[in-house]
Amino acid sequence: MRVVVIGGTGLIGSKVVERLGEHGHVAVAASPETGVDTITGAGLAQALDGADVVVDVSNSPSLEGAAALDFFTTSTENLLAAEAAFGVRHHVALSIVGTDRLTSGGYFRAKQAQEGLIRDSGVPYTIVRATQFYEFLGRITDAATNGNTVRLQPVFIQPMAADDVAKAVGRTAVGTPMNGTVEVAGPQRYRLDELVRQALGKRGDPRQVVTDPRAPYFGVSEMDEDALVPGEGAILAETRLQEWVRAAAPRQSAPVGA
Ligand SMILES: NC(=O)c1ccc[n+]([C@@H]2O[C@H](COP(=O)([O-])OP(=O)(O)OC[C@H]3O[C@@H](n4cnc5c(N)ncnc54)[C@H](OP(=O)(O)O)[C@@H]3O)[C@@H](O)[C@H]2O)c1
Repeated sequence: MRVVVIGGTGLIGSKVVERLGEHGHVAVAASPETGVDTITGAGLAQALDGADVVVDVSNSPSLEGAAALDFFTTSTENLLAAEAAFGVRHHVALSIVGTDRLTSGGYFRAKQAQEGLIRDSGVPYTIVRATQFYEFLGRITDAATNGNTVRLQPVFIQPMAADDVAKAVGRTAVGTPMNGTVEVAGPQRYRLDELVRQALGKRGDPRQVVTDPRAPYFGVSEMDEDALVPGEGAILAETRLQEWVRAAAPRQSAPVGA
């Protein structure tokens, strides 16, 4: 199977390309770094010619709401039009668990717009909604930091390893289009504020976590405590946070979760 991975040089994309290659598929990493730009359209036709499946794990260079909306709308429209022209049989996109519950945040509205374009496109598709990557917990902490204070809502979070996200995306890519959505999540559920408080404490980070039900989470203030966790029927990944921390420790000096 020939699979074009849009965003194939990114965190998830590079892992998807590697996994598909290991399973005997021809996986092509497509991104500006490899000469394929879904915003300008450069290199897109050459990349998609002969593709069976397109996996979109790209991300907006800016997570700011308006910029992200512009990115996901333009990129997805260009991509789906090219896929229709080349008869691509399956479009797989990576989205976020709870996207439809987080619409007060601009980035999540952008992901929702991406999902809507896919559903309406006529191209057979599967949307994989994943929870927050363990690799992203540090960025969540930094985004909530002001001076020595980290303000976080006491919402549930069920994070997962990027490796497990890539596994789920790769498996979906070589499967039959669902024309629907599948959720994947980590094996354990935490309270976001408590998880970060413990992690910072363990590694001697001087920042203090303040539990604040109105703290903005990437533009979303006040969310339901279950907004970030999946519903029934989600596929649960294997890698536990502590295993990931142990494996990541030699590579990263201070991962959140340690
Ligand atoms: N962070 C989380 O916890 C989380 C949870 C669930 C879902 N997601 C979703 O996961 C997806 C992938 O995230 P990630 O962290 O793997 O992203 P990432 O590491 O930031 O990689 C982004 C990729 O997008 C590519 N890209 C940027 N502009 C492009 C363009 N104009 N045309 C084609 N490709 C372009 C980049 O290419 P270059 O390297 O060439 O710039 C790069 O390969 C995102 O859509 C995000 O919404 C994230």
